[in-house]
Amino acid sequence: MGSSIMHKFLILFLIFSIPMILVNGYEEEEEEHHHGGGGGGGERRGKIFMLEHSKQVVKTEGGEVRILKGYRGRGIGTPMHIGFILMEPNTLYIPQYIDSSLILFVRRGEMRIGWIYEDKLVEKDLKTGDIYRIPAGSAFYMVNIGKGQRLQIICSVDTSESLGDDTFQAFYIGGGTYPTPVLAGFEMRTLTTAFNVSTDELATILGRQKGGPIVFMRGSESDQKNVWTSLMKLKQKEREEQRQFEEDGEDREQEEVKEWTWRKFLRSFIGKENKRRESGVGYPDSYNLYDRSPDFKNNYGWSLAIDENDYKPLRHSGIGVYYVNLTAGSMMAPHVNPTATEYGVVLSGVGTIQVVFPNGSLAMNTEVHEGDAFWIPRYFPFCQIASRSGAFEFFGFTTSSRTNRPQFLAGASSVLRTMSGPEMAAAFDVSLERYRKFVEAQRESIILPAWPETPDLKGERLRPLIKTVA
Ligand SMILES: *[C@@H]1O[C@H](CO)[C@@H](O)[C@H](O)[C@H]1NC(C)=O
Ligand SMILES: *[C@@H]1O[C@H](CO)[C@@H](O)[C@H](O)[C@H]1NC(C)=O
Ligand SMILES: *[C@@H]1O[C@H](CO)[C@@H](O)[C@H](O)[C@H]1NC(C)=O
Repeated sequence: MGSSIMHKFLILFLIFSIPMILVNGYEEEEEEHHHGGGGGGGERRGKIFMLEHSKQVVKTEGGEVRILKGYRGRGIGTPMHIGFILMEPNTLYIPQYIDSSLILFVRRGEMRIGWIYEDKLVEKDLKTGDIYRIPAGSAFYMVNIGKGQRLQIICSVDTSESLGDDTFQAFYIGGGTYPTPVLAGFEMRTLTTAFNVSTDELATILGRQKGGPIVFMRGSESDQKNVWTSLMKLKQKEREEQRQFEEDGEDREQEEVKEWTWRKFLRSFIGKENKRRESGVGYPDSYNLYDRSPDFKNNYGWSLAIDENDYKPLRHSGIGVYYVNLTAGSMMAPHVNPTATEYGVVLSGVGTIQVVFPNGSLAMNTEVHEGDAFWIPRYFPFCQIASRSGAFEFFGFTTSSRTNRPQFLAGASSVLRTMSGPEMAAAFDVSLERYRKFVEAQRESIILPAWPETPDLKGERLRPLIKTVA
């Protein structure tokens, strides 16, 4: 009996705590950090769609990685996190694979990314504005190749394939005492057999690196006995072996069966061939956000969205990318994403994000600054407004790589306008003529011009006004 009551109590407790989890999100015990200027913390209630508390997951002399955790909940799907990677000039992000797919956006700088695609090492140089996808489980490394330039990357971390709830799990391939490569976990005998080298050699190779996940590249040939270069040498050897092997004309399939699983394991890290600087045929190319002409453009700003039709690798991720640039005071008309949850990061300028609850009450009205991140659950109406002081640029990810068709709730292309007929007039209980006049007053669509400044309306809400009119 007692346990049954406890059981019921537990269920009740769970039912009531779920919405709390949804609204309050996670609480970080670890070091917290405010992104950008986003105003003092304080009223949490008013910022429920801000992703505010980033967690530093990597910090070395060479750079840092911060993760803003997304939310988990019904209808939202698996959470997407947003990562901010900063690398000093001439640094390497040590080869690793992680349990999440990444879509990288090069915010500033130039980089070279090397990763294993279909068993081959692909190296690709990326510049500011480029978008590139790294699938979960693929080994990759990143090098800052911008001369004397810091490298800033913003990425989506898609956790749909991840091992746990926590940010993401990195498995280092290179490393030493810090970071510890996954290989270091095997028995010594396994390693000596697998690599066919002495224990001394292993201890040297797997014990040197102490610099952490982001390390400075050393220019001199003399000091290149770290795991990284050793792996490169191994790769070279593999490549030669492969060539030999193909020249020998042996049956590949048969060999693959005989091959010790360890070698396959290594192959998946090391690749057989260097396809650097090929013309993009045969492996996924990057996509530059700024090279494309806008999907929408008027005097008040422009926007574009990239989906799987523009950049094929997005199909695997189920994630789209968008970019918006509003002129001072302009507004992205109130709209809804019927099929996607949207994550946004402010690139420059100051703006306001307004989100409303499905019941027509204000959920959030927050000023945002460079580096701030926000999220808008699917179905929730929202708009973004540039401050009058200058342009407002933001970009982000949507959880649907299919063409996302936002439904606009105001402006010339809005549903209110499209459905403009006796039914709509009846719905608002006004004459058709009056309704038409109302919905046709705004001639612009999607990105709307600033309204004359009206200080007396600041913070004013509709409902109290209705009472005075009535
Ligand atoms: C291991 O190394 C030795 C000496 O370097 C070499 O003779 C031998 O063939 C190697 N074995 C394998 C399986 O590669
Ligand atoms: C965004 O728009 C502003 C002007 O409104 C312009 O100065 C700026 O260069 C634009 N940004 C990009 C990346 O085009
Ligand atoms: C609307 O919904 C939100 C969230 O569910 C709730 O906090 C708020 O009180 C509701 N407002 C009204 C007027 O019902």
